[in-house]
Amino acid sequence: MTPIASRPFRNISPFSCLSRQRESVMAVKSAEKAIAASLDAVREDARDCTRCDLYRNATQTVFGEGGSDARVVFVGEQPGDKEDLEGRPFIGPAGRLFDSILEEVGIDRTKTYVTNAVKHFKFEPRGKRRIHSKPNAGEIRACRWWLDHELALIRPDVAVALGATAARALTGKPVPITKFRGTIVQSEEGVPVLITVHPSYLLRIPDPMDKETERRRFLEDMRKVKAHMKG
Ligand code: URA
Repeated sequence: MTPIASRPFRNISPFSCLSRQRESVMAVKSAEKAIAASLDAVREDARDCTRCDLYRNATQTVFGEGGSDARVVFVGEQPGDKEDLEGRPFIGPAGRLFDSILEEVGIDRTKTYVTNAVKHFKFEPRGKRRIHSKPNAGEIRACRWWLDHELALIRPDVAVALGATAARALTGKPVPITKFRGTIVQSEEGVPVLITVHPSYLLRIPDPMDKETERRRFLEDMRKVKAHMKG
């Protein structure tokens, strides 16, 4: 056995390597904390957003929800009636269907980030009801400011465009969903974006067999999303 004194690197304590490891773990942790704090600050700024006129009639800004360390960012269209009242994305009927599909594929929603292309509810009043109205290109562009910040801070492995509004927001141009469904395109900043339908589309299909077929296709898309999540 080589005497300790003549071993190469004898002056380097085995603990110095451990302490370097610990230092780099601490550096990563503090960077993660800083990112989470920045995301909180952006969320706070978005409360007073007046970048387009939608804030005038909506109850509140519905910002994205989830950890800044999420490996996937799901992007919907805009908050619905329930989301507008409660201030959280995807908690209404489409959100419940979305949750059940994520569960079926084994994606833990608490480990994802869920947001919308447009962060104020756009609607037409009809009697006592508020009927969803599609955001226009100007509103999508104005709200891109917030989505850009969310993506730049989270830097996910993959973003998912749930429907045409989200696909437009992420790529900056109209995307025909039927043609690109299930494929990966690049966002303007180079984030891979999987294109799929919005879960509310599944809710609107009247025929049970067609509904089931579309549900399975959506499940397939979510399996692709899972395969793209590296963490
Ligand atoms: N539909 C969306 O696109 N987003 C929500 O948050 C709810 C419904």
